[in-house]
This record gives sequence, structure tokens and C-alpha cells, in this order.
Amino acid sequence: MTMAYLNGEFLPLHEAKISPMDRGFLFGDGVYEVIPCYVGKTVALQYHMDRLRHSLHEIQLAIAPSDSDLEAILKELIIRNGNGNVGIYLQITRGVVEKRQHAFPERASPTVFAYTFPIDPPSNGAADNATCFTTVTRADTRWARCHIKSTALLGNVLHMMEAVNEGAEEVLLFNEQGLLTEAAACNVFIVKDDQVLTPELDHQKLPGVTRRLCLELLEKYTDWQVRVGPVSREAVMSAEEVWLSSSTKELAPVIAIDGKPVADGRPGSYWSAAQRLFHLHRFDIK
Ligand SMILES: Cc1ncc(COP(=O)(O)O)c(C=O)c1O
Repeated sequence: MTMAYLNGEFLPLHEAKISPMDRGFLFGDGVYEVIPCYVGKTVALQYHMDRLRHSLHEIQLAIAPSDSDLEAILKELIIRNGNGNVGIYLQITRGVVEKRQHAFPERASPTVFAYTFPIDPPSNGAADNATCFTTVTRADTRWARCHIKSTALLGNVLHMMEAVNEGAEEVLLFNEQGLLTEAAACNVFIVKDDQVLTPELDHQKLPGVTRRLCLELLEKYTDWQVRVGPVSREAVMSAEEVWLSSSTKELAPVIAIDGKPVADGRPGSYWSAAQRLFHLHRFDIK
């Protein structure tokens, strides 16, 4: 039985209830995090907390539990769910209101909700146990606040469905200049001419914790050429490797784009080495 946390109480997930007047439900007025946890140990919890604070700041939601209170809640939730391989979903909304109106209420008591869901054991970088992704490409039609990890994800959901409707698993998104932004639920890296490239952060991309960890690991443990900057559609379509990054996938190879294989359609050697580094160092950051 999955245990959840809701506003001060640990309880079975199926017993957790919120009001339909919660602004998270009415407006998507909330933020969230997904934190991976393997055999009871979280990955880069501090980076997730930093991003959560940033998201709360961006939506002007000042009243929320302190980091240490939240961390204590999450640790207790991990234990109550059996110390396994789980993603921890943590959501904070602006809370329940009496009247549905767009402007923030004067006083609000945030709703804090968390639960866990099972995730696969992480890859060690071996090509034969890699979870590979097929993708399609689309113009990025989401809003201009993608740097906030907001629960208002309909733009991402509709883009994901464009992939699913074509039998693919993710969608690579390009902005009006034809530059790569990210995917519906991941950041993106490519390898081209023996250089690892990923788009720079701005309002069109979520600052992924996995992206951050990956860049730090490549900087610290490799002598590879790594560049953070504009990535054109042409570069993506002719890349030797394309990777997705997210907390529950770590690094995952893209093996096809719009029905065409990426290189030979198999996970590449750079991916293998980068995911191996992840495997060795995922717990290095508190
Ligand atoms: C739109 C989007 N970009 C990037 C990411 C990757 O972020 P992280 O590595 O922090 O999981 C996610 C993860 O959910 C996402 O939804």
C-alpha cells in the first residue's frame, strides 16, 4: 500500500483527499518536484530543494514549510514506503480558497502533498540494459515560463501526446528560431563531432537537476569537449548521439527521431560512459 503525506498527516494514498476549491486543482497554481531515491537514498536532494525554492519564489508563494521540515517529511515517507527504488512526488499549491478568482487570495495556507511511486533500478551504462527512446519533433508551443516547475503542465501533456499518437515515447521541441529547447518531460543532450552539446537555460527550459549533475560530472571526470549553447535542428538531426535527461531516467539514449535512426540506432559510446559516471557518482551530492 502506497503511503502519502498530506498537510501534516501520513496516510494511505487512496485516503488522501483535497478540496475542489484548491487552487492547484482550479488553476494549476502550484509547483512540484520529483526526487529519485534508490534503496532509501535520495539523489541530489539539495538541488531539488534549491529548485523548489526557486519555483516557489517565481510564483510568489512565500509561505511554505522550511527545507528541514520538508526533508524530514520526505525521509519519513521513504521509510513508510519501504526504503525501495522510488520517485518521490512533492507538490505545493497555493491552497484552498472560498471564491474562484484569478488573483491570489490575501491569506492562503498552502497544500503540501507527497507520495512515492516505483521506479526502475538505474542503468550502469551497459548498452544491452539501456531503456531507449524513440522521438518525434515539434515546434515548442508551451508558455514562456518553462523555467518554473509548475503543475500547470497541459502544454507538456499535449506535446507528449503528439509523440504517443505517432507511436513514439518523447518529443524533441524547437523554438521559433529552430533551436532545440527540451523534450516534454526531459532535457536533451546531443553528441556531434565528438562534442557534447546541450541548450543553455532560459525561460523555454526547465533547469533539470539531472542536466546539472551530468554537466558537473562531465566537467569533473572527463576531458570531453562540452558546450552549453544554442543547438540547431540540423545539429540534432545529424547528431551521432542524442540523450534525454530526467530524474527518473537519468541519461537515456534516443535511438530514432521522426522514424529515422540516430546513427546506427543503438546507444552510443559517449552515452554509455556518461551514464556509467552517473552510476558511480549519483549519491555524491547530498
Ligand atoms: C519539461 C521537463 N524538462 C526537464 C526535466 C528534467 O528535470 P530533472 O532532471 O530535474 O528531472 C523534466 C522532468 O520532469 C521536465 O518535466
